[in-house]
Amino acid sequence: MNNLTKARRIAAAAMALMTACAAGITSAQAAPQGDPAPQGEPARYGPGAPGSGDPYFPSAGNGGYDVLHYDLDLRYSPPSDPAVPAGKLTAEATITLRATQNLDALNFDLRGLAVTAVDVDGKDVNHGAGPSDWTQVQDDASRTWELTVGLRPKLKAGQKAAITIDYGGTTGRPEDTTGALYGWVTTADGAMVVSEPDGAPTWYPVNDDPEDKATYSFHITVPEGKTAVANGLPGGKPETKAGWTTWTWEARDPMASYLATASIGDFTLSYGKGPHGLPIINAVDRGVTGPALEKTNAALALQPQMIAFLSDLFGPYPFEAFGAIVDDDSVDYALETQTRPVYSEVADEDTVVHELGHQWFGNSVSPADWKDIWLNEGWATYIQWLWAEHQGKSTVAKQFTDTVADLDSKNLWGLNIADPGRDNLFAEQVYHRGAAALHALRAKIGDQAFFAGAKEWLDRYSNSSATTEDFENVMEEASGRQLDAFFNDWLREGDRPAMP
Ligand code: ARG
Ligand code: ZN
Repeated sequence: MNNLTKARRIAAAAMALMTACAAGITSAQAAPQGDPAPQGEPARYGPGAPGSGDPYFPSAGNGGYDVLHYDLDLRYSPPSDPAVPAGKLTAEATITLRATQNLDALNFDLRGLAVTAVDVDGKDVNHGAGPSDWTQVQDDASRTWELTVGLRPKLKAGQKAAITIDYGGTTGRPEDTTGALYGWVTTADGAMVVSEPDGAPTWYPVNDDPEDKATYSFHITVPEGKTAVANGLPGGKPETKAGWTTWTWEARDPMASYLATASIGDFTLSYGKGPHGLPIINAVDRGVTGPALEKTNAALALQPQMIAFLSDLFGPYPFEAFGAIVDDDSVDYALETQTRPVYSEVADEDTVVHELGHQWFGNSVSPADWKDIWLNEGWATYIQWLWAEHQGKSTVAKQFTDTVADLDSKNLWGLNIADPGRDNLFAEQVYHRGAAALHALRAKIGDQAFFAGAKEWLDRYSNSSATTEDFENVMEEASGRQLDAFFNDWLREGDRPAMP
């Protein structure tokens, strides 16, 4: 499910490929990118682009197709020695997609795992046997991790195909470009799976572009006694055979690839209900005990109230379920994995409402490019302020003043949060200047236009993705004001903006 705003990116993706080739990488992609056919002739067939052209992650995502559904069959052995973080993953992914151009080959992103077989619509694609083969490029230096699948018969624009990929390997603890743990993070008792921004390829072959949302089915087979938790709702009871248990989860709401999870551990599951009967499923690691467990239980007990509070402000909760995965291991942060955020060691009230806020801002409406990240983190932080006020802990006005004072004292106005740079996606400015910008906007245009604009934004781009410019346009429409100078001052300029 793809809103197809990518034509502008083809050039960038081609550039990225040329760079990869210059770096000495050979790939089936080296053929020229589908030349446009002369007027009146049918379009030619060519390979899909190996990247979606995100300026920060040029080889993430791929061109030429739109994924409809991922069916992920994962078998995982957690580390045999808890002190050595190496697990074993053996998997089969079936990816149902629709071609958006005439294709003779297409790519998936897959990092650090070896493919053993590929078939297209049930037909084996022999490795190295001719035009309908597949190849893998794994180049850590250029961050190019591509699986290229040749297509014979070729796939015409608009046609669907189901591509099945068998793959696997030893799992470790992957890091993002800043050195933070992410992706399939092997833990002592299983795995914590948190893939923002480009970690999804560490565990499944994917079109790793937040603009290409899809539905997911997960079948996760783990040693009996372990619990596997993914997004969405259980697809039946876990089934145990010969010491292995298969957990099935179905995520029926369209989801960006970085928001998928399949976390495994010694979890205790509990089932509750939120407003209008919304299923809430929490998984808490049995290693979370004492004060961390008390804090976690208290925060998770507030989830129904938080959902009701945010639904009043922003419209109905956007998905089929909610809940939490609280691991006793840590990646040092929490992630808003769709319908079921993952927490490190403890889930505190502030973090729970932040990750819940992301279900509207970030998950239902996702960033079109990674540079639009402030739309996720600014809103989720602002939602923490709103909740703290609702709970009588502090006012939004005071949190705004304190935040501005903090940005002043740390001299943090220099960063353009509407294009913070690849390694500043999660810098504190993105969160705090972002939230302050939203509050300044509210002060400028008034509560009525601000909340009407927020609802319009969520309505117009739900299950989709959008840019900072799209957000500015919605807010200009909602308020009937020209806000270019305002947004430049609050998001982009290197100086402290004038206070509202
Ligand atoms: N979106 C997460 C949050 O604010 C943070 C993710 C950090 N990811 C990373 N790779 N450092 O809740
Ligand atoms: Zn966040």
